Amino acid sequence: MNLLEEFAARHAHKKLLLPEDVQIFGAQIEKLYSSTEAKIGDRRITLFGTNNYLGLTFAPQCLEAAHRAIDEEGTGTTGSRLANGSYSNHYLLEKEFADFYRCEHCIIFSTGYQANLGLISGLIDSKDVILLDAHCHASIYDGCSMTGADVIRFRHNDTVNMEKRLQRLGDRAQSTLIIVEGIYSMLGDTAPLQEIVRLKQKYGATLLVDEAHSLGVLGETGQGLVEQAGVLDQVDFITGTFSKSLGNIGGYCVSNHPQLDMIRYVSRPYIFTASSSPATIAATRAALVLLREGQALRKTLWQHSRFLYSKLDELGYTLGPEPGPVIAVVLDSHTLAIDLWRRLLDNGIYTNLVLPPATPDDKSLIRCSISAAHTTEQLEHIADVFSQLRKYVTDA
Ligand SMILES: Cc1ncc(COP(=O)(O)O)c(C=O)c1O
Repeated sequence: MNLLEEFAARHAHKKLLLPEDVQIFGAQIEKLYSSTEAKIGDRRITLFGTNNYLGLTFAPQCLEAAHRAIDEEGTGTTGSRLANGSYSNHYLLEKEFADFYRCEHCIIFSTGYQANLGLISGLIDSKDVILLDAHCHASIYDGCSMTGADVIRFRHNDTVNMEKRLQRLGDRAQSTLIIVEGIYSMLGDTAPLQEIVRLKQKYGATLLVDEAHSLGVLGETGQGLVEQAGVLDQVDFITGTFSKSLGNIGGYCVSNHPQLDMIRYVSRPYIFTASSSPATIAATRAALVLLREGQALRKTLWQHSRFLYSKLDELGYTLGPEPGPVIAVVLDSHTLAIDLWRRLLDNGIYTNLVLPPATPDDKSLIRCSISAAHTTEQLEHIADVFSQLRKYVTDA
């Protein structure tokens, strides 16, 4: 079979699995009405699949900052951070992230995906070891595959299993990077971070926490799980993204280790791509201010999240283990998940459909993400629709 024939076979397989009559992946959004409502097809749909946890995508401060930056600095930087793509505002945003985390160093990247790729591939080489939670995001796995290091997975959130692996590594534990997430993107549960920190210290390993989904969501000032668990000072590297609570696109890594700065000179995902646009940087700077002062938004977000989680739990849906702004409904089969996703959309609700191989343990998920900007009516509506569809899911 030649290359194109192999690809045709994969295409035929996709056709078998996925319906053709509705665009279940890459749904076309015709128009946005607000951070929680959009036109899809010819209908007004409530968005419950956006990661827009604080609802900042239309915050006037961010819009104004972005407009001003376009007027003053143009639409794009047209260059790498290492060449012509580092404007004052890129460095200012790095300083603001470092201040926010009370850390010495910060590097920003053009996406959150590249923050993980850039840090992991820049820091680790083939003689090192990476020990990661099995549920880590694809960007972490992809970063690992760029290193040539031994990559070992431990069972999700299982610190006994993690310790066994550290013991087996012997002296190599000291050249091991442990990687976990604050809130896991698929099931929405948190890492047992205090115990993970204890083990990393016991075995002399290094720890990276990806706070992509927990930035702005956990902790008094929104730093994430590191703040909630009280371990900020004991974590070596934190990565995260602008594309969720900050309502933009981009990524960051903060650390107290001076070695972080070397990433700028050795990391291909940092060097061989254009830097973030002036509008992106300006709006993210404005959003970071709102996030830091966002206690009221966080409180509302958690009220909303607990409301929907407990409603779906009462209805008997199988959910991720903890309430939080990522609420995963776990389904028995991909066909049922596709069908439920379509029925939710027919009832005016957009969620994320997530199918294997993108999911942990080959589960099929309807992933709802909650926003502080959702209204009580929107939350009651999604709870009602899930209630109406319950019998259908049980009988399927
Ligand atoms: C845990 C985690 N890390 C990194 C990323 C990548 O972030 P971005 O989409 O901003 O590139 C994501 C995206 O969903 C994520 O869930």
